[in-house]
Amino acid sequence: LQGLYTTVDFGPADNMTKIFTLLRKYEPHGPLVNSEYYTGWLDYWGQNHSTRSVSAVTKGLENMLKLGASVNMYMFHGGTNFGYWNGADNKGRFLPITTSYDYDAPISEAGDPTPKLFALRDVISKFQEVPLGPLPPPNPKMMLGPVTLHLVGHLLAFLDLLCPHGPIHSILPMTFEAVKQDRGFMLYRTYMTHTIFEPTPFWVPNNGVHDRAYVMVDGVFQGVLERNMRDKLFLMGKLGSKLDILVENMGRLSFGSNSSDFKGLLKPPILGQTILTQWMMFPLKIDNLVKWWFPLQLPKWPYPQAPSGPTFYSKTFPILGSVGDTFLYLPGWTKGQVWINGFNLGRYWTKQGPQQTLYVPRFLLFPRGALNKITLLELEDVPLQPQVQFLDKPILNSTSTLHRTHINSLSADTLSASEPMELSGH
Ligand SMILES: *[C@@H]1O[C@H](CO)[C@@H](O)[C@H](O)[C@H]1NC(C)=O
Ligand SMILES: *[C@@H]1O[C@H](CO)[C@@H](O)[C@H](O)[C@H]1NC(C)=O
Ligand SMILES: *[C@@H]1O[C@H](CO)[C@@H](O)[C@H](O)[C@H]1NC(C)=O
Ligand SMILES: *[C@@H]1O[C@H](CO)[C@@H](O)[C@H](O)[C@H]1NC(C)=O
Repeated sequence: LQGLYTTVDFGPADNMTKIFTLLRKYEPHGPLVNSEYYTGWLDYWGQNHSTRSVSAVTKGLENMLKLGASVNMYMFHGGTNFGYWNGADNKGRFLPITTSYDYDAPISEAGDPTPKLFALRDVISKFQEVPLGPLPPPNPKMMLGPVTLHLVGHLLAFLDLLCPHGPIHSILPMTFEAVKQDRGFMLYRTYMTHTIFEPTPFWVPNNGVHDRAYVMVDGVFQGVLERNMRDKLFLMGKLGSKLDILVENMGRLSFGSNSSDFKGLLKPPILGQTILTQWMMFPLKIDNLVKWWFPLQLPKWPYPQAPSGPTFYSKTFPILGSVGDTFLYLPGWTKGQVWINGFNLGRYWTKQGPQQTLYVPRFLLFPRGALNKITLLELEDVPLQPQVQFLDKPILNSTSTLHRTHINSLSADTLSASEPMELSGH
């Protein structure tokens, strides 16, 4: 932009000489500025955990400072995408970013100094005096559990409370945006217009599930459709059977020149040869319900059989003594959303990884025997032992060994070119 001083963004693996030479074409005089020096990198669900070695990051910084360049580190302090606030990228396919944004940064997600911080301070001290005061120590950490959760009930059982104003009716499905549901989940419902005796393909044209759909027929979970990944299920049902599709917005595109990214069902679903119409849209206020539940001891599920598909689990538990930061570990759970004392910690996706624990700041917990409450919305499968644990260290680097393949269809997503350089600005 004219009148603005030009700067560049690059990481330790990039060729500094080449990039600053290019910058000089735009700014022949004035300071060399790296406005985003990448100390680490972010993670996507289903991909390996990103790290940048201490030696690479310090070497890159030292080289820049030797040139007299100015530098801003991104990230200097790791963070967390609490609630539904993670972004996503489009690199040939839709890639949502994990809840943790620890980033392998010099100060961790939990606010603690890491070896990278001290090594960077040593580099800076070669060029200018650094303050010698004491550094704040790491926050106290805490272990707890295992805590066994109990079943609260199927999401569909709470529909009246999750959508108190009732559904919106429309012949064709409407997007989240069209009904002003800015994040989270929306339920789409219609009824089968004839009996389907044989397993029959059910799909949404044009890769039109944004971003993940949990499909139920008469309340029985049938499986998942996922943008770029899984485009078909086989369904049966009777005339008048209830077809429910819970759609998850997995995060908005946070980078790219054309980031229009409507959420929900972007095309009417097709069952066999029939275009399904006469939809009801239930925009869900799940957080309001969980907050309303938060002080209550919920009743146990009274039926012997656990329901299948999107289901709430919960447990109240005391913490004796003081509290510390902790990391919620959900072994064997599949994918969902989790709240502590009504606060939405974010998404978990244990099956996919690499993130296995969610950061729980100590300020969310009640000390000295007061009751704390955890609530899970598990979207798929529950482990035999519905337990969670609180660990004193994060686990961010465990990717499922299952190899995921994506749909090779030409879609709006696959048309955009992959980025030539590292992305910025998440
Ligand atoms: C970095 O770029 C410069 C200028 O283009 C080039 O001369 C040099 O060989 C490059 N270094 C590496 C390691 O690629
Ligand atoms: C991810 O990590 C595994 C185990 O270290 C490795 O075998 C695999 O090649 C990595 N995948 C990518 C895409 O880097
Ligand atoms: C931008 O994305 C929208 C929605 O995917 C698409 O209709 C449009 O053609 C795209 N525009 C450009 C310039 O790529
Ligand atoms: C994950 O990180 C921990 C802690 O840095 C390390 O001990 C472990 O070997 C790593 N595991 C994998 C699979 O990379």
